[in-house]
Amino acid sequence: MPLYSEKVMDHFRNPRNVGVIEDADGVGEVGNAKCGDIMKIYLKIDDDVITDVKFETFGCGSAIASSSMATELIKGKPVAEAMELTNKAVAEALDGLPDYKMHCSVLAEEAIKNALDDYYEKKAKKAGQPDKTEQ
Ligand code: FES
Repeated sequence: MPLYSEKVMDHFRNPRNVGVIEDADGVGEVGNAKCGDIMKIYLKIDDDVITDVKFETFGCGSAIASSSMATELIKGKPVAEAMELTNKAVAEALDGLPDYKMHCSVLAEEAIKNALDDYYEKKAKKAGQPDKTEQ
């Protein structure tokens, strides 16, 4: 049996949603100290729905495939649903990852959660801001 599923190879060779969102509503970045891989996720959110998502991953093939699949899984979804995404679900959607590569999918889960935290923080700040139009 090949080490990597066809889906992993497909998302590694043709990653979906690669790039940057300049005016992102939430940005999350995580790294794995052991392997040195880094993943960054950008979210565009409208009415608590993820309308666009992009990623930049400096890492192994499994990390790239995991970020690609994770972005596909949360695109168009409400933020509450995206918050529930687990690395296991990402790995399952890829038809599995070798055991010693599961940590690569953890990066995707964590990067998304960080980006959502960033979104919630920005939203809370905005809500707490005094109205500048009042003189
Ligand atoms: Fe580090 Fe895959 S080896 S994320």
